[in-house]
Amino acid sequence: MSNLVRISSSPACAMMASTASISRFSVSKVTSKVIEPHIDARTMEIHHSKHHNAYTTNLNAAIAGTDLEGKTIENILINLDKTNAAVRNNGGGFYNHNLFWTVMSANGGGLPTGELLAAIESSFGTFEEFKAKFAKAGATQFGSGWAWLCVQKGGKLDVCGTPNQDNPLMPEVGCGGTPILGMDVWEHAYYLHYQNRRPDYIEAFFNVINWTEVSRRFALEK
Ligand SMILES: [Fe+2]
Repeated sequence: MSNLVRISSSPACAMMASTASISRFSVSKVTSKVIEPHIDARTMEIHHSKHHNAYTTNLNAAIAGTDLEGKTIENILINLDKTNAAVRNNGGGFYNHNLFWTVMSANGGGLPTGELLAAIESSFGTFEEFKAKFAKAGATQFGSGWAWLCVQKGGKLDVCGTPNQDNPLMPEVGCGGTPILGMDVWEHAYYLHYQNRRPDYIEAFFNVINWTEVSRRFALEK
């Protein structure tokens, strides 16, 4: 995997400035108003400053003094001992949200282009078929979790869902490949504005998908 980093976010994201961390994971900065009205600023602010911050703080506590300290988050998740609930939940929460912030943009939405669109059409038939499958993965995830678009080596794409803060990098989650797009369907991601209307939030999410960033991730991993 070519993008193994121990920083809080991708430098390609226009929404935030990342902060490198030498020995500890750190919380990225998010400009929360840029994707209104699709996702409201208050939700983004709480999501980032409270939820994401808590995952990050708890991850640092969980790995302090262990042999995981100093490893990349990708390395930690790929080799995860799933019985280690603190690292599983908080490491997943840290990684998942960092990806989540980068794949949303005020200039997002629409369709991807180029090789990513070709791969989507090759893997799913049409963009609309991909969209329906991705939306269904999010809408049918019982309780809290995530919907993912993953890429396998060779470029084949797949859609899946995971519960809680699990993600496709973790072993034996029934969902393989490297995630290049993730949608948070925890209620904390949408409840203030959408209440129980998760499908409405999912539809709105498609209006902010940063396909430029998803394409960048696809090119790195295909
Ligand atoms: Fe979240």
